[in-house]
Amino acid sequence: MASLRSLDATWEVELFLALESTSSLNTASASLIIDHQTPTPDTSTLAQNQSILYGMVANMYRILIIGANRGIGHELATRFSLRGHTVYGTYRPQSRNDETVRKMIESTTVTALELDFTEEESIIRAASTFPSDSLDVLINCAGVYYMWDDKPFTELTAEHFLDHFKVNTLGPFLASKHFLPLLSKSPSVGKIINVSSDFASISDNTGGNACYRVSKAALNQLTKTMAIDLAKTAPNVLTLSVHPGYVATKMTGYFGEDDMDECMSGLVKVVEEFGTKSAPPSLSSGGYVRWNGEKMSL
Ligand SMILES: NC(=O)c1ccc[n+]([C@@H]2O[C@H](COP(=O)([O-])OP(=O)(O)OC[C@H]3O[C@@H](n4cnc5c(N)ncnc54)[C@H](OP(=O)(O)O)[C@@H]3O)[C@@H](O)[C@H]2O)c1
Repeated sequence: MASLRSLDATWEVELFLALESTSSLNTASASLIIDHQTPTPDTSTLAQNQSILYGMVANMYRILIIGANRGIGHELATRFSLRGHTVYGTYRPQSRNDETVRKMIESTTVTALELDFTEEESIIRAASTFPSDSLDVLINCAGVYYMWDDKPFTELTAEHFLDHFKVNTLGPFLASKHFLPLLSKSPSVGKIINVSSDFASISDNTGGNACYRVSKAALNQLTKTMAIDLAKTAPNVLTLSVHPGYVATKMTGYFGEDDMDECMSGLVKVVEEFGTKSAPPSLSSGGYVRWNGEKMSL
């Protein structure tokens, strides 16, 4: 990275080079350039900018979001990109011609990859051809819930259970396993974020939705098990289950009780803080938290 020590006219060029060498410009960094075109700043201003800049660069992550073409995955991809992180997002090959996927492929801020949670080969291919030699955050966001899910268990079949389990539980398991070598090469902390649900909670169970509840409760168990195993084998990789809020997406028939913007801003903060010194105690590896970082009951 270029030095910012110079006090002559070249400081501005150096600042720009330093910013360009980051993964991408974000709003804050762009305003640093605009704010300091003229005149040449004094030493304290430069020192302040230098620490802001180094702070930003140090906290820039490479983030992979599985299921980023719509819903929560898309909302997160947009927010993380705007904050200057390098974002990779997946879509299913079956949805290649969907408008949401076309937009993601054409996006200049999200690098699009094909991946189907139910096809292990596609996960292996995405990991082995991943366009970076390390990864800081894996967000296992993709999931399935159908409107007909809300039935008594007597009306559900083994096939219903397996369909949910393959996407909501096995998908995150396989992605975590195959992306682990990249996550363990993170220069800071590798974070596996499993997008769970409040329906995963056994203590808060109100009945119905057995397939979905069981698949997400198993996901929480996976999160905890991986945290314990990784503490022995890859201690720089941490795991967390998150309930994203009840927000309006295609999955919910575009109905929600929580505010999308509030929930997504909270989730972004949780992901960024998790594994850092400023993280609250609720954000411990293997844990299960709400979008605002509050601990949830298993
Ligand atoms: N929305 C809520 O209120 C809510 C509440 C609690 C938890 N959640 C959880 O949040 C996550 C995101 O849900 P959402 O509301 O954003 O749902 P959504 O709008 O239906 O989006 C689901 C995403 O998952 C992808 N996907 C589905 N099956 C997949 C597979 N086999 N392989 C790879 N990707 C697949 C979808 O791709 P296609 O476009 O190709 O189908 C889509 O990108 C889910 O895990 C869900 O359980 C949501």
